[in-house]
Amino acid sequence: MSSSTTTGDARTSAEAPPASEFREPPREAWYCARSAGSLAPGAMASVTVLGDQIVIGRTKAGRLFALRDRCPHRGAPLSGGQFDGTAITCPFHGWRFGADGRCQAMPTLVDGDVTDPGQVKVGEFPVRESDGIIWLYMGAGLAEAPPVPALTLAGATRCRVAVSVLVEASYDLCVLSLIDPGHVGYVHNSWWWRPTATAREKIKDFEPLPFGFRMKAHKAAANSRGYRLLGRPQTEVDFLLPGQRIERIRMGERSIINATFATPIDARRTLLTNVLLSDLPQLMPLAPLIGWAGRAFLRQDQRILELAQQGLERKPTMLLLGQADRLGQWYFRLKRDYAAARHEGKAFSNTLAPERLRWRT
Ligand code: FES
Ligand SMILES: [Fe+2]
Repeated sequence: MSSSTTTGDARTSAEAPPASEFREPPREAWYCARSAGSLAPGAMASVTVLGDQIVIGRTKAGRLFALRDRCPHRGAPLSGGQFDGTAITCPFHGWRFGADGRCQAMPTLVDGDVTDPGQVKVGEFPVRESDGIIWLYMGAGLAEAPPVPALTLAGATRCRVAVSVLVEASYDLCVLSLIDPGHVGYVHNSWWWRPTATAREKIKDFEPLPFGFRMKAHKAAANSRGYRLLGRPQTEVDFLLPGQRIERIRMGERSIINATFATPIDARRTLLTNVLLSDLPQLMPLAPLIGWAGRAFLRQDQRILELAQQGLERKPTMLLLGQADRLGQWYFRLKRDYAAARHEGKAFSNTLAPERLRWRT
């Protein structure tokens, strides 16, 4: 999406980001590709991230790999071929590729053909498994990039639920929804979470993180049934580049981590993945209910984001107004500064300052 934004807030109007920031999400970032449990040893799958088709797989020995899903011979998708747990055979002419992308065999060659199959290689992408998620890295300069987020619990994981919804909307629009207090009372107004007409003024303290910002620990909202059920615990929310919201809800020694990750599939489609992890044993039997609620939440976002995307396609401008939209402004600023640092080959440094924000939700 190519669009522009206007900030109506006098204090921050000078920070209105240029239209270029609404363009591509960074390639130099880890993106959530899929849930690790869905990729057994000996399996492979095709995923699209930033418009690139990639085949990810796990060898029988357990090694994860990610290769460009395009045979260098004549372009067939390797994910459409056979994977024997060690190598992929292309469905078109049977070239065989190892998990490192190197060609091992070209069955049509005969003695005297000079070609060495080992000279042909499919592009590899860094891939990592962490907290039950497969992460893909799409760019160069891995060392300077934001790390894969750590979803660390104090105790053993007793409950883990992951749900994904594909949204027909741009990456920026979807990422803004992760840090948009204003939509909660309107979009997530189910009776079981936050009924309408309960809005009240909130005060939140923020501090910068190396690649994002943190809403400091505070008592969870009293006008949310979900939090009241948990006894209004302490909660802290991190937002991290490229588009990750990680909420930590603490109840004494135990905690719940509720994380949402945005993955840019292409210019118009974004995958939203919600992962809930907890070391609370009581949550284990509730996993199906948690999965249902997580999906219901993402579908509520999906419906409104797809409608807003259509509006932005008719006129690609946004107004970011007031303190409730400050987090959205911070996102664009972080994204712009990160892109500039990578462009100039410099280390990224976060220029956000601690701030107290107020809004009504
Ligand atoms: S296209 Fe893959 S072997 Fe020919
Ligand atoms: Fe939402």
